[in-house]
Amino acid sequence: MTDLVHRPRRLRRREGLRAMVREARLSRENLVLPLFACRGAGVRREVPSMPGVFNLSVDEVAREASAAFDLGVPAVLLFGLPESKDETASGAYDRRGIVQEAIRAVRGAAPEMVVVADTCLCEYTSHGHCGVVRNGEVLNDESLELIAQTAVSQARAGADIVAPSAMMDGQVGAIREALDGAGFSHVAIMSYAVKYASAFYGPFREAADSAPAFGDRRAYQMDGANAREALREAELDYSEGADILMVKPATPFLDILRMVRDRFDLPLAAYHVSGEYAMIKAAAERGWIDEKRVMMETLTSIRRAGADIIITYYAADAARELK
Ligand code: PBG
Repeated sequence: MTDLVHRPRRLRRREGLRAMVREARLSRENLVLPLFACRGAGVRREVPSMPGVFNLSVDEVAREASAAFDLGVPAVLLFGLPESKDETASGAYDRRGIVQEAIRAVRGAAPEMVVVADTCLCEYTSHGHCGVVRNGEVLNDESLELIAQTAVSQARAGADIVAPSAMMDGQVGAIREALDGAGFSHVAIMSYAVKYASAFYGPFREAADSAPAFGDRRAYQMDGANAREALREAELDYSEGADILMVKPATPFLDILRMVRDRFDLPLAAYHVSGEYAMIKAAAERGWIDEKRVMMETLTSIRRAGADIIITYYAADAARELK
């Protein structure tokens, strides 16, 4: 018999005990499901690098959103694949644009669902960059007007939240001003405040057909080595009127998530991105890991690091586990 006084194992002996003292809790209310809308009807085209994720025609987006809502997922984040693209991303702010149609469809099919629209130009520009390009440069201030116009058209279609992801300086302020000016002061902004230039977005660019035709996004997205700069980015968006801050990607940047959580009192979102999802899928397909357990452990780690909201392609699967 040893004289150990402290035996943490006492509280691990059965699930009831473990649950009583559990610190971070993942619940369905935390989850947001991203969906990719395309033209057509009855279309469900699986994304090769993202098993279980589809390009969905608007009718299918509505169906998928309702099914997720019935599982307890309260929100969707909508992306669009337009039929044609141009230099000025006109599909992004077209009243009849693909995302605008998807927003209306989800509204109709699941009226209580929270509808978030990704506000960016990269899916709509012929060159695939997130702003206006001149002489090989992505111009900042020239892009703001189009981004703001996109947000207003998404609000007009019925979005509850717009989520600017272009990483243009001043985009939150420009959107806030435009929304207020157009009578949408009640529409919230979830800012991709801290968005790193990440290789983990690879599968998304296949899903959204949004890979840049030349160069990369390192001249506007953040350098993955920077932590202090994350606080600065968050501070700017806070002061420009963001309602929710986001850190993206999630698991490679959990330290950043914690820093932003500790420093700001706004709700905090984390985006568990396409590559993070694809890695789990790929390893699980080979039988190398237990997919459900790795999924839950991953999402719990994001909660533990401080996220209130988790955007994940696993939202419906996780909701099923949490039932
Ligand atoms: C649009 C946007 C991207 C993602 C979300 N919004 C792609 C990018 O910045 O290249 C990535 C999401 C994911 O990888 O799941 N700018």
